[in-house]
Amino acid sequence: MKEQIKSFINDTIQKLPVKKNESSLEITIKDKKIVLEFAEKECILTFGNYQKTISYDLGADKFFTAQKGLFKNLEPLMKDMEDKKAFGQMLSTWKNNVELLLEEKEMAKRKEALAQKLAIGYPEPSLGNNDLDVGYEHFLNKVRDEMLSVFRSMGYTLVEERELEDEYHNFEALNIDADHPAREDQDSFYVGKNHLLRTHTSSSQIRTLEKMLKNGGEPPLAIVCPGVCYRRDAVDATHFPIFRQMEGLVVDKHVSFADLKGTLLEWAKAMFGSDTQIRLRPDYFPFTEPSGELSVSSPNLLGGRWVELLGCGMVHPQVFRNVGLDPDVWKGFAFGTGIERIAMMRYGIKDIRSFVENDLRFLKQSL
Ligand code: PHE
Repeated sequence: MKEQIKSFINDTIQKLPVKKNESSLEITIKDKKIVLEFAEKECILTFGNYQKTISYDLGADKFFTAQKGLFKNLEPLMKDMEDKKAFGQMLSTWKNNVELLLEEKEMAKRKEALAQKLAIGYPEPSLGNNDLDVGYEHFLNKVRDEMLSVFRSMGYTLVEERELEDEYHNFEALNIDADHPAREDQDSFYVGKNHLLRTHTSSSQIRTLEKMLKNGGEPPLAIVCPGVCYRRDAVDATHFPIFRQMEGLVVDKHVSFADLKGTLLEWAKAMFGSDTQIRLRPDYFPFTEPSGELSVSSPNLLGGRWVELLGCGMVHPQVFRNVGLDPDVWKGFAFGTGIERIAMMRYGIKDIRSFVENDLRFLKQSL
């Protein structure tokens, strides 16, 4: 260690007037002398009456720290020097030399490490390679994250719920009875008798409210629940049995349809541009009353045509009763939209199957 430190310091002060012998260096500026004496694990710096011991028991790579220790102890001496300028110049030359030398050493080390890696055929991304491709965020994740950030900015919390549901949470609790015709077109993949892959994210509404009440909480609450859903649909350009939705739910004492409309307008503008208009028409869902279907029209989207985007409505009193909330006290609104649908509109994608075909020519366009 001593020898290493010594030769390192030696290298970095070669431009200075230095006298060397076996175990010491003597730096002289004008008639002032700084003596560095090297012992096994330390260096003793003497300058006039001033003496300082600098330990360099620092590990093989820490030359720089050792040198820094030297500078730190030399700098305060400046004020005692007659020729401050010469002393200052000496210090800065020394420092520069240290940095240069370290840089050279660092480069040499890196070069050697790289050569070793390459010698054993190790892939080295920093070399750059035109054959290698960067990754792309998938269209669907991009749209989901964009929607999340819009709702987050409005104060919503993200909730992710299970994909494997029981019939109660997917249907009954949402006011869809066993013989309700709405079950027909939402029949799904069953796992056992009472469990199925959820057909919509609306089950997250029930799960979240139940959990909140069980833990002693109560509304207000504003959540968005994105996630994968499943339906036994025949595959075509706009249907695929695995798809994504995002559910929104707000519950509070004074929530009105106007709040729902305002929220959806804000969201549509954030997604499709500030000149986007929305239109709400009556629709039917067993778990909302009244229910609506939202369409948007934007100059940036299919030439301003009205496009249906999501289902929404005021939470049905029976849904509140099912989770144990008093519908005379609490009001709420909910909405649910397909992420694929929005991505398709946004990017002009014609076939929903493209999202899952893993064709790089398609995926690359998501950049
Ligand atoms: N769950 C409905 C669907 O999948 C959408 C919806 C959600 C409607 C919330 C109203 C309120 O079509």
